[in-house]
Amino acid sequence: MNMKIKTENSSKKTQLLCGFVMEKSDKVLGMGKFNSKTNSAISQSLKDNEGKLGRITVIPTPSESIQRILLAGIGKKDELTNDTIRFVSGKIAQKARELKLKELTIVAPPSFVTESGPAVSQIVQGVKMSLYKFDKFKAEKDTNLLELTIIIPKSKKILSAIKSAEIISDGAIFTKSVANLPPNECTPTTLANFAKTLSNNKMKCTILSKPELKKRGFGGITAVGQGSKNEPKLIVLDYKGSKKEKPIVLVGKAVTFDTGGISLKPGDKMDEMKFDKCGGCTVLGIMKAVSELKLPINLVGIIPAVENMPSGESYRPGDIIKLYSGKTAEILNTDAEGRLILADALAYGEKQYSPKTIIDFATLTGACIVALGTNVAAIVSNNENLTKKIMESSKRTTEEVWELPLNQDYMNMIKSDVADIKNIGIGRAAGTITAAAFLKNAVEKTPWVHFDIAGVAWTQIATKEKPYNPKGATGFGVRLILDYLQNL
Ligand code: BES
Ligand code: MG
Ligand code: ZN
Repeated sequence: MNMKIKTENSSKKTQLLCGFVMEKSDKVLGMGKFNSKTNSAISQSLKDNEGKLGRITVIPTPSESIQRILLAGIGKKDELTNDTIRFVSGKIAQKARELKLKELTIVAPPSFVTESGPAVSQIVQGVKMSLYKFDKFKAEKDTNLLELTIIIPKSKKILSAIKSAEIISDGAIFTKSVANLPPNECTPTTLANFAKTLSNNKMKCTILSKPELKKRGFGGITAVGQGSKNEPKLIVLDYKGSKKEKPIVLVGKAVTFDTGGISLKPGDKMDEMKFDKCGGCTVLGIMKAVSELKLPINLVGIIPAVENMPSGESYRPGDIIKLYSGKTAEILNTDAEGRLILADALAYGEKQYSPKTIIDFATLTGACIVALGTNVAAIVSNNENLTKKIMESSKRTTEEVWELPLNQDYMNMIKSDVADIKNIGIGRAAGTITAAAFLKNAVEKTPWVHFDIAGVAWTQIATKEKPYNPKGATGFGVRLILDYLQNL
């Protein structure tokens, strides 16, 4: 989807002129006057709209240059947040799509400045992200909005905010569009090819294939991947935007399909396990945006990509494998595969790059959905300061997180009788934390935060409806980490 975004000082010719209305207000924010007939139609519609959050009212106008006016309720003045602006802008965009418009204009009131700066960023994100639709495999496609005009006094700051918001939205959309691909169309090799398309003179892409992985001791990745004819890959994107800084390492779980392996999952909703690559896709979207934003940092994205299949070649419960860290792991359930491939990638990231921070994303445990539901991600960390920064970004981007504890008692729960550690904990107890405990074994000394995005990476039964999260993958984490990196 390619949409042109421009700014104007006042509204010109448009198919749809949109303005925001607050609750208990009798005016449309920032909108000028029209002829008396249109003015009275607007006053009448204001009464219908009431400024209720997300309520959309469309008024046909007799004017040639402005075909319709749209009022968008933005709710109570003191409840205005980044998210309400994004949410309502998304509603506007969806209305425009329903009307099959090619172009629309939104009045951005100068008073809309939030914690994260001017509201144009949220307007751009809301419109762009809401119009994304996974229709690659459908003959019938929706009309695409080609142009968005924002009425706002032009300044350098505004123009650069718009440019950044476009890049950030495109990053999240890229994540969604790869994550939504079905497993027959997206193997570890496909993901590696996507990563290659992102490389440029500042971002190098390296792919490690099966023989190399075997030779270099990636025992987790090769064990999980050995049951599938779609061979495992380790994808590395290395972005250099600074001369001296130590890098930050991002790691993302990419299981292109998780059947559970020999510990086969039940059939119900197994199709959703095509989303088990979402962590890796999050990393791809962030890397794409960072290189387009040209951030002055060094960032390495590491994606262990495998398919977890049952076959005569598969790894089994009872196997003991050696991870990249040198530690041995007893396999007790082949469905607890994510932690095995992540452990290799985390240890590799730390040893190879001596990073200042490691952040990982994974659709790691069903237990996370039991604990926190489908609107909040779990985070587990070994560093308070890092957690604090992540939480601040989470507030600004409205990608909610909740921290779970990880002390020695949890580490003890994954000790094995026959190897250094085992790949499941004790019964169902604290499943999200014992998975994180496994990962912690791979990180020796670096500040690290783990995101379990099992509940939030795609829309599920209890997912809160938001226009900018249409059905399917959500791109959770892309905006959050970009906010974190921009505020370093
Ligand atoms: N990819 C799943 C986790 C998952 C399940 C995410 C459902 C979203 C929805 C992961 O590989 C897995 O199967 N985990 C097991 C771990 C268990 C065997 C200890 C789980 O959560 O059941
Ligand atoms: Mg599994
Ligand atoms: Zn999995």
